[in-house]
Amino acid sequence: MKKLRIGVIGVGTMGSQHAEIFAGMPETELSALVDLDVDKAKKLCERIGVKADCFKDYETMLSKCDIDAVAISLPDSMHKAPVIAALQAGKHVLVEKPLATKLEDCDEMIKFAEKQGKTLMVNFSHRWAASYFNTKSLIESGKIGNVAMAYARKNDTIGVITKSWGWLAESTPAAFLSSHDIDLVRWFIGCEAKSVYARAYAKVLKSKGYDTLDAVQALVEFENGAIATFESGWIYPDTFPTPTDSYIEIVGEHGVVHLDRKSESFEYATPEVYTFPKLSISCRVNGKLQGAFRISLEHFVDCLLNNKEPVTSGKEARKVAEIVEGIHRSIESGQPVSLPL
Ligand SMILES: NC(=O)c1ccc[n+]([C@@H]2O[C@H](COP(=O)([O-])OP(=O)(O)OC[C@H]3O[C@@H](n4cnc5c(N)ncnc54)[C@H](O)[C@@H]3O)[C@@H](O)[C@H]2O)c1
Repeated sequence: MKKLRIGVIGVGTMGSQHAEIFAGMPETELSALVDLDVDKAKKLCERIGVKADCFKDYETMLSKCDIDAVAISLPDSMHKAPVIAALQAGKHVLVEKPLATKLEDCDEMIKFAEKQGKTLMVNFSHRWAASYFNTKSLIESGKIGNVAMAYARKNDTIGVITKSWGWLAESTPAAFLSSHDIDLVRWFIGCEAKSVYARAYAKVLKSKGYDTLDAVQALVEFENGAIATFESGWIYPDTFPTPTDSYIEIVGEHGVVHLDRKSESFEYATPEVYTFPKLSISCRVNGKLQGAFRISLEHFVDCLLNNKEPVTSGKEARKVAEIVEGIHRSIESGQPVSLPL
């Protein structure tokens, strides 16, 4: 069988994982890498032992390389242009979450994918984590009844966020962090949101020169009456033992699920550090990256090979972007916002 030839656009924290996983899958071949920092792309090729073409811009890659699909891992607000360019060039697209930071960008990408007849999948990788996947199965089995209420929080430590993501002012904690939780909770509840009310705190990061929000709280009501609170923040102190605090509670009509990904059952302390490394989304086992992130990429490949619609399609991701946009509009206006927008 001919392998699917993949180009990866953006090889930072996430893109380097896309590249490594696609390079090692039996069904795919890593053909090309793009990054503004082309040396980073070349060094990555050396590290993972592949001979892929490396480019500084995706336009050159799309015009020169014979590839079937691209995986895009650029900053949150920069997804639209490469997604549309890749679709226009006849490639299938896997793009990192959130699909976009503006709803109109999501609409353009979805329309373009339909027009071109190509797959557009968004890497909401958390859907494939064992604990979240099993929560969905438990809810579907009826054992906890209909979901009545959910609470989901994600908080990043300030040092990691300011050092790792120079582009944080182009996004917000709600778009970057809560988008994962909104995708999960909407999937668990199984219907659409009808209103959102949100407030935010914005002092700490602004005082350091980053024009974005520190912390967000949002209350979302769904069409079936279920209610959910989403909290996200970027100002945890660096002494917190994990870069992302993550917790979800699902209250059903006669059952409850707690999903505490703070420690993921692995904590250790040395003279230098006390830490809770994250294991379920992506971690190295026997030299290979394993976990939900890999399964999500395998799902993309399965969809391309077997002509299936991805479970985290562009349209699904648009529903998440719509709630995030509702959160931002509510923060700005101070009023509840009705959905759909
Ligand atoms: N699925 C997940 O679990 C998950 C987790 C974290 C982040 N993300 C998402 O992944 C995306 C990327 O995040 P990241 O952490 O890898 O960011 P990053 O800043 O580490 O990497 C971005 C890369 O893009 C490159 N770049 C920037 N502009 C470019 C351009 N115009 N052309 C070519 N290259 C360019 C940068 O040099 C950098 O290497 C974001 O949308 C983020 O929200 C997903």
